[in-house]
This record gives sequence, structure tokens and C-alpha cells, in this order.
Amino acid sequence: MNKFELNILQITDTHIFADPAGRLGGMDTSASFLKVLDLVLNSPVNFDLVLVTGDLAAESEEGAYHWLIGQLAALNTTVACLPGNHDVATRMEPIVNTAGWQYCGDIVTTQWQVILLDSAVPGAAYGALRESELLRLERCLSAHAGMPTIVVLHHNPVPMDSRWIDTMTLRNAAAFWSVVDQHAHVRCVVWGHVHQNYDSYRNGVRLLATPSTCVQFEARSRDFALAPLAPGFRHLRLSGDGELSTHVVRLAKNHRNA
Ligand SMILES: [Fe+2]
Repeated sequence: MNKFELNILQITDTHIFADPAGRLGGMDTSASFLKVLDLVLNSPVNFDLVLVTGDLAAESEEGAYHWLIGQLAALNTTVACLPGNHDVATRMEPIVNTAGWQYCGDIVTTQWQVILLDSAVPGAAYGALRESELLRLERCLSAHAGMPTIVVLHHNPVPMDSRWIDTMTLRNAAAFWSVVDQHAHVRCVVWGHVHQNYDSYRNGVRLLATPSTCVQFEARSRDFALAPLAPGFRHLRLSGDGELSTHVVRLAKNHRNA
């Protein structure tokens, strides 16, 4: 019997400020993150891998990355991350590398592959995959043909049916899907950026977006609007037979923001 199981924690859009007085939509993002981390630490799951899927820092300050690295050390497990539109990749990458985190690249276990893509465009809120990233995606997928795979990025590669969010999607999503569509072993594509839970399918591929650890955006809203939903994280459980189960865990409704 195949008892392989991989438990992945997705933490996203932490928007940490170096200045403790920093607020996003009135929220103390560090305090909110710490409450989510506490929820993770008190869960019965021992996570094998943490994915931090972009917008780690609110203003890409070095102090914000160092603070986050220090806090996530409490999980004592492998951390892999990728940049979002609020991160400056050239600042973020050396800091997380020094801390021993994986930056983009891919992770290959005996049963599953996880591919992390850099969709950030310097100075832009929207995303795009450089030709080199599309080629790397193709290379990784071809190298492990048939192995169940999760592809991770910051920007949404499908519209969220939300006018303002859909001005900053993955611009070359067609090029992304033209690669993915040629590899039937891609089980799931997961992203951050949109600060909301989303769970759908495209051609049999599970599509997941995950709540931020701070403010939540109203789903399917025409204009910018915050949703009165609690911050949270996603748990992905991968089994040896290629099955994936997942759920979002949020703070209790009565939590306080600061
Ligand atoms: Fe973002």
C-alpha cells in the first residue's frame, strides 16, 4: 500500500511592513500574520513544505523579509517562496536564499513535483511570465512526465470575474496554458494575489486561490472592496496515488485585527 502523503501549507500575501506602525486597509498585517501562524502551529498537521506565494512585504523593505523569515522559522520545515507585485525580486531573493529558503525553482519528491514560477513584472501590478520562465516550466514538466504536479505562481492565470482585480492578472495567461495543456499530469495551479478563496477547474486541472493572511478582497466585486472575512491559510494534502485534497482554514470570526 502506498502511504506517501505530503502536507503543504500555503501562506500568501502577508504584506509585512518593516515599520510596526504600517497598516494595510487599517489592518496591522504583522499581528494578523502572527495569529494565522499561531493557528498553523496549533493545527494537528505536521507540514512538510511551506509555500509563500508572493507579496511577502508591503513595500519590499529588507526588514520585512527578515521579520517574516524569523517568524516562519517556528515551523521548522522547508520553505519555498516566489515574488509578488509588491516584492522587489532583486532585494527579496538574496535575503531568502541566505535564510535557506528556496526561491522559485522546483521541488521533486518521489511522488509529486511542485513548480514555482516568477510572474512578477518590476514596477507593475499585473503579472507576466518571461520567456525563460515559460521554457523552464516546459522543461520541468517534460523532465517528470507523468508525475502529478502542482504549479504555483503569484498572479491569477484565469479571470476572477472582478473588474478591478482582472486589470492585474497574468497578462500572458494564454502562453502559460499552452504549456500546461500539453502535460496531463498537471493536477493543480495555485496562486495568491487575489486575497480570496477560489476553487474551480479548467480542463480537469484544479484551480486554487487562497485568502491572504491579512485583508480579504470581496469576490466578484466590480470595484475595489474589502470583504468582512477572516485571514487564513490553505492546507494541501497530496497522496501517493496522485490525489489532492485541500481546504482553507481561517481565524475565528471574533478575532481582532490589531
Ligand atoms: Fe499581489
